[in-house]
Amino acid sequence: MNQKSIFLFILLISLSATNAIPLEKRATQFQDCRGGNFRNAEFIDVSMSPDPLVSNQNVIFDVSGTLKNNDIKDNNSFVRVQLDDADGTPIDRIRTNVTTAIKAGQKFDIKTQQHTLPDIPDKYQLTVIIVNPSDPPNPATDVIGCATTRVGF
Ligand SMILES: *[C@@H]1O[C@H](CO)[C@@H](O)[C@H](O)[C@H]1NC(C)=O
Ligand SMILES: *[C@@H]1O[C@H](CO)[C@@H](O)[C@H](O)[C@H]1NC(C)=O
Repeated sequence: MNQKSIFLFILLISLSATNAIPLEKRATQFQDCRGGNFRNAEFIDVSMSPDPLVSNQNVIFDVSGTLKNNDIKDNNSFVRVQLDDADGTPIDRIRTNVTTAIKAGQKFDIKTQQHTLPDIPDKYQLTVIIVNPSDPPNPATDVIGCATTRVGF
């Protein structure tokens, strides 16, 4: 090998090492939670920082995707993060009002405000929903986006 190809060879090795790191520490995977109680809900992408969550630290959620069947309204829709323990007892709720309307079929990307978490148990359930409340509220149909995960089980 001449010097140039040795350099390339080393570069490739270090690139593949860098790429391998995220695989060791997988991001939390969310599942679809439409159906069941939420028959209008479509699956949404959720990522969070930090991931996994850390007790008493700040967290920001990033909720994104494209809803096929529902508009996200700027006057009353909101994103709600629900953190519950293994028994379903609420630990924390984070609400972020939607300020930019998004039509069905358009990509959206909503970040929640920075929020300080309380103490988090080893096992918890995390559900993120987009709600477009009707009057009177109807949870079965008002939830238009949903993603959920169970951590530590
Ligand atoms: C939000 O706007 C829509 C249409 O623009 C309207 O039908 C609805 O009543 C409004 N909701 C509130 C809470 O103002
Ligand atoms: C979000 O909207 C609700 C209902 O309109 C309101 O009570 C609440 O203060 C709003 N929150 C923020 C952070 O603007």
